[in-house]
Amino acid sequence: MRPRLILVSDPHIPHRLEGLAQRMGEARFAERLEKEKQLIQQLGHGQGRGIFSLENYIDFYGVVRCCLQLTGLWSRAVRNYLDIHVEANEVFLERLPAAFDGFRILHLSDLHADLHPQFVASVKRAISSVEYDLVVVTGDFRTCTFGDHTGATEASIELLGELSAPCYAILGNHDFMIKVPSLEAAGIRFLLNESVALKRGDAVLHLVGIDDPNFYKTHDFDHALTGVPEADCKILLSHAPQTYREAARRGIDLQLSGHTHGGQICLPSGIVVVHDRSAPRHLLAGPWREGAMQGYTSRGTGGSGLPVRLNCPAEVTLHTLRSE
Ligand SMILES: [Fe+2]
Repeated sequence: MRPRLILVSDPHIPHRLEGLAQRMGEARFAERLEKEKQLIQQLGHGQGRGIFSLENYIDFYGVVRCCLQLTGLWSRAVRNYLDIHVEANEVFLERLPAAFDGFRILHLSDLHADLHPQFVASVKRAISSVEYDLVVVTGDFRTCTFGDHTGATEASIELLGELSAPCYAILGNHDFMIKVPSLEAAGIRFLLNESVALKRGDAVLHLVGIDDPNFYKTHDFDHALTGVPEADCKILLSHAPQTYREAARRGIDLQLSGHTHGGQICLPSGIVVVHDRSAPRHLLAGPWREGAMQGYTSRGTGGSGLPVRLNCPAEVTLHTLRSE
């Protein structure tokens, strides 16, 4: 069934969301709000604990916590979660204008910022000596996929509101649209199936952001790429890496993603135990390539469900762009 088109004057849309529909595309906006509403309704029937079906049948995180405690790994796993690594990634882009050679993008992802009270301080410590020209956040600000977003929004603002460079973000599958106005008021600009032209002199680099392609599936390349010249260099923010084929077809030069958490709890040597199967294994973490397009999937700055990590460090990534 096609989603109902919501007009910006619809009295059911909170006043603060007016204006976002046009930016995102009214049909996709309506679809997203409808899915958010369905998720809330599922809660009443005990089906809204998470997007993973396993979580709907057993206390998945309770079992993981119990296993880590019984094996004596809990404390180490929490220490790992708070020990955020800075990963350097140098990317050579054929179409990058020479004026952007050396441009540094600080990439944060999957903050789930309300999961642990020491998380924000840990990220600040990790990036305190890092220099960058732009910050991007590839979605998932909140821990749960539903419920109150206040804690996550406040922690995100505490972390991102004082950064020394412009900050652009996209929504993930854990985020509701309602948090966008608060975060934008703090200077974090969202790309809701939109693009922005970054300029250095006469040179232009396009930053394109799409909505969550994983759970909400309200991403829209056509809308996001409106007005972006085909021949120009384009960097895509996509919460989940699963858009890799379409992004490559659309002439994206570099895709930045998160969502996978790199597995979060891995076996020694980083062997992933449980992962979302929406993208192939080689896209789960780090740099990758799809045809002429390059990509990078962050292991995530925070964590999901439990504040733990094993054999899979949390990361902020410093991408340095080079023109070939
Ligand atoms: Fe996440």
